[in-house]
Amino acid sequence: MTNIHIASATAPVNIATLKYWGKRDKVLNLPTNSSISVTLSQTDLRTLTSAATSPTFTSNKLWLNGEEHPFNDARSVQVLTHLKELRKKLELENPALPKFSEWYLHIVSENNFPTAAGLASSAAGLAALVVSIAKLYQLPQSYSELSVIARMGSGSACRSLFGGYVAWEMGQLQDGSDSKAVEIAPMEHWPQMKALILVVSADKKDTPSTSGMQLTVQTSELFKQRVDVVVPKRFKEMTQSILDKNFAKFAELTMKDSNSFHATCLDSFPPIFYMNDTSKKIIKLCHHINTYYNETIVAYTFDAGPNAVLYYLQKNETKLFNIIYKLFEKLPGWKSDRANYKQFLDQYTKLD
Ligand code: ADP
Ligand code: DP6
Ligand code: CO
Repeated sequence: MTNIHIASATAPVNIATLKYWGKRDKVLNLPTNSSISVTLSQTDLRTLTSAATSPTFTSNKLWLNGEEHPFNDARSVQVLTHLKELRKKLELENPALPKFSEWYLHIVSENNFPTAAGLASSAAGLAALVVSIAKLYQLPQSYSELSVIARMGSGSACRSLFGGYVAWEMGQLQDGSDSKAVEIAPMEHWPQMKALILVVSADKKDTPSTSGMQLTVQTSELFKQRVDVVVPKRFKEMTQSILDKNFAKFAELTMKDSNSFHATCLDSFPPIFYMNDTSKKIIKLCHHINTYYNETIVAYTFDAGPNAVLYYLQKNETKLFNIIYKLFEKLPGWKSDRANYKQFLDQYTKLD
């Protein structure tokens, strides 16, 4: 009988409302600023990962969405080395355990949403990877400790280990041990919050987040102002708006921070463009909707890609969807495919 051991895990996407963008230490993956996000429900955008180990495997391998994916880059190696060291410790304490720490891993992972398109696939992906291997290795580490390992794989991944409203505190220590995700409030604190994802393009972005933020750190003047002045103040205000369940404030800060992050991308040299014309039309549409209702009912945010995430409260879902559907209906022969969606947005901004 083949000696293969398998464990699986899922992890949800988290979408930052106060963006992480910039590393102060590339090896440990430590950020230049603290960030805040909302973790989406497992039933929406998520990664499902299975980790297998066997003495018969001859190398570490990863299949992502059905295709073999490079798995020997420095960050993956660092994550695997860390997990294997923890397993090794366990094996020394319990000599009866099989020597998984000496065997290679085969990982099969699937995202149920576009990969590398600015919908936080690295967050859900690395979180699911770490949790599935920790399960396979039967590690006793807490989610908080696993979050630190996930951070080394992809910064935003540390926040996907927690549900609800999450902060990633940048930390002060050189070894990064205090740079970790903490819960601001569980989802039950403010369960009315909803997220609507508008997939503008499922294509892979041309500038991955890792290299994009490095270019920004090196070349943007605006970035210094963002990190030193804008984000620290915003971090406190956004945390408070979540604790107070103040949607208008939360929404304003979320939209401003998305714009501030994309401004630093534009201020990088050469400039990075993550949003496209459709993204910009969505921004305009959201402001129109809030003006129309004379109340802030929707907030947009864009990660490093053109796709929009809209946050709104459940009680305003009908109001928001009514206006969106009404606009869609203005198009003769409307069908819910992407080409029509773009046409709708073009028409909408022309009516403007
Ligand atoms: P995104 O905006 O989707 O997070 P990034 O540029 O940050 O885009 O990261 C994309 C990269 O993350 C992919 O090219 C891949 O290397 C990694 N990744 C995405 N999903 C997974 C997954 N399920 N398992 C392992 N790695 C993943
Ligand atoms: C715009 O976490 O993908 O989504 O640490 O290099 O893997 P690496 O970067 P990543 O960057 C995310 C950037 C962002 C904002 C955010 O999620 O906070
Ligand atoms: Co990412």
